[in-house]
Amino acid sequence: MRLFRWIITALKNPRELSTIFPSSRFLARTIADQVDFTQPRTIAELGPGDGALTGPIVERMDPESQLLLIEIIDNFCQELRRQYSSEEQSGEIEILNRSAAELDIICEERQLEGLDYVISGLPLTTLPDPLSSEIIDKTHSCLKPGGKYIQFQYSRDYQQDIEQVFGPVKLIRVWLNIFPAWVYVATKKPHQ
Ligand SMILES: C[S@@+](CC[C@H](N)C(=O)[O-])C[C@H]1O[C@@H](n2cnc3c(N)ncnc32)[C@H](O)[C@@H]1O
Repeated sequence: MRLFRWIITALKNPRELSTIFPSSRFLARTIADQVDFTQPRTIAELGPGDGALTGPIVERMDPESQLLLIEIIDNFCQELRRQYSSEEQSGEIEILNRSAAELDIICEERQLEGLDYVISGLPLTTLPDPLSSEIIDKTHSCLKPGGKYIQFQYSRDYQQDIEQVFGPVKLIRVWLNIFPAWVYVATKKPHQ
């Protein structure tokens, strides 16, 4: 039923989703493995959809952590609220029905000094061009020095754009996903 709802949403919003299936658990685990969960973290997930990547993050994060889920499609936010509004969840989870382009405003509103991680499933190649570049820039400015931007894509189209802002990225190939994905791990330089 959840997958059926996902496919319907994907058919109605091809540009925002760019794929007909949510990410696999293999991709979700690979992304969560890039995060150091040994201490409280401030994390933003951009474009969480119905939470395919969110599960392993919530399972592993420290109870003092803060997780912002920023999703533009209201139906997905409702699904995320169903899953993550329980008080039993570890850490503080906020579900925001807003655009990732507002990341800087969202951080300012919460007086956050900086994010430790930005995890993104946004389809950079199908979003209107200035928007993708704007989100990469804002991600960089909202991260703490040494913070990490973890982005998956089905192609390497945006690798150069990310490297122009962050410097060289670590690349991980995940075959067990429809479609096979690239995970980019970009680190903000310690003194930026
Ligand atoms: C490829 S799907 C990934 C969904 C989920 N993270 C996954 O891996 O299965 C892209 C997600 O980004 C969301 N999205 C697209 N544009 C957005 C924007 N400007 N701000 C926030 N979310 C956006 C879509 O609604 C969708 O949920």
